[in-house]
Amino acid sequence: MEEAGRQAQGAVIGLGLGPFKPLLVTHPEHLRHVLRDRADNYVRGTAMWAALGRLTGQGIAGEGEGWLASRDILRGALSGPYLRQAGEGIAASVAQAVDELADRAQRQPVDAVVEMTRLVHRVINPVFFGSRIDSHQCDRLGGEVATALGALLWRMAMPFVPLRVPMPGDRAFLRASRAIDRTLLPVIDRARREGADGPDLMSALLRGRGHDGRLLSDRHVGQDVVALFVAGSESSALTLTWAWVLLARHPDVAARVREEADRVLAGGPPRPEHVRKLVFTQQVMAEVMRLYSMAWAVPRVAREDDVVGGVPVPAGGTLVLSPYLTHRLPEFWPDPLRFDPGRFEREAVRERHPLAYLPFGDGAHQCVGQAFFAMESALVLATVLSRYDIRPTGDPRPRLAVALPPDGRVTLTMTPRGR
Ligand code: HEM
Repeated sequence: MEEAGRQAQGAVIGLGLGPFKPLLVTHPEHLRHVLRDRADNYVRGTAMWAALGRLTGQGIAGEGEGWLASRDILRGALSGPYLRQAGEGIAASVAQAVDELADRAQRQPVDAVVEMTRLVHRVINPVFFGSRIDSHQCDRLGGEVATALGALLWRMAMPFVPLRVPMPGDRAFLRASRAIDRTLLPVIDRARREGADGPDLMSALLRGRGHDGRLLSDRHVGQDVVALFVAGSESSALTLTWAWVLLARHPDVAARVREEADRVLAGGPPRPEHVRKLVFTQQVMAEVMRLYSMAWAVPRVAREDDVVGGVPVPAGGTLVLSPYLTHRLPEFWPDPLRFDPGRFEREAVRERHPLAYLPFGDGAHQCVGQAFFAMESALVLATVLSRYDIRPTGDPRPRLAVALPPDGRVTLTMTPRGR
């Protein structure tokens, strides 16, 4: 992909990926066409997405009315006013999760991906579920979702193989999806009976109605919760992992983040109103997501014939949009491989093409968790750096998977500051 991106330099080119022959689209103007101007012509319905649909259903991860109903509910439930209201709880979860992490990382080096996943689960658990499941169950559910997703990789890579033909991963997928149902369905059932009146996402989905005016089914709600895990958990945990790797490579930047954390948190616990003041920290996270954009391939299928960047797209043709490659186009990002949070100073952002940066996608399917992650990640960085010295080891490169995990083990060691 990186080689293709370098050769294309923003032009639309064909990718030789097996029988698909999708077109790679990276230039911001072409993205504007696909995601905004002609968004009605480009849907998610790729074959790869159909495999994923067995896990995440036809609600928020699908298209059409089921998607629209879930999207409206989730956008509302994760909106600015909600985050302001839930901010105290989110900040408290971050503080507790960081202390738990430090407790383990003081005794011995811990695996960064495992720990960031655990930390993300601590923070999303109350937001997704209210207080219905404990942290242990949340970790188990996250593990089951990750197993099911991993088991689908073969089917996603070879979607033309009919379901009746056995493939590697089939049994593991069945086992994991049954385990997910066993964990999730009783929780949904209980929540429905007890009256879902909380501000958490599960309650919002249980209260929400489809466009036919009827409540969403338990199955729809369950698959949406799984989709939220798929969309929000691994990407957040890996982005935070890359943040530690990049801060270790750039101690001058780490020192500035710490200085900001000391000034803003002033030795106290993280609070929601700190987020707005953690300006440099947020620029650092934006630059982490520019270089390591977990959405390295966002597929779309054309409904009708079209032309993108002068290249004909036939009806049924697949496009692969790649924020990862868009973020490395030298035309918009001089010296693109250099880590430089200054690229996100207000003036620089204003002068850049609005679609040169899209780690959370754009248009109708734009990430509903963007503001939540901005809050979570800024508070995590500030809380850790204001209280601890953190030392990551390992010098990984990204490895191609559903997201972009590090290709080698990254460990973290933490000690309270001043010791
Ligand atoms: C670093 C963290 C994250 C990244 C990089 C990320 C990235 C993305 C991207 C690129 C899309 C667009 C996909 C498309 O156009 O087909 C997306 C959609 C989505 N994201 Fe995120 N996301 C992150 C965190 C989260 C979190 C924390 C949540 C939940 C709280 C979440 C929930 C969703 C959902 C539900 C969608 C589908 C929206 C729709 O189709 O209408 N994401 N995300």
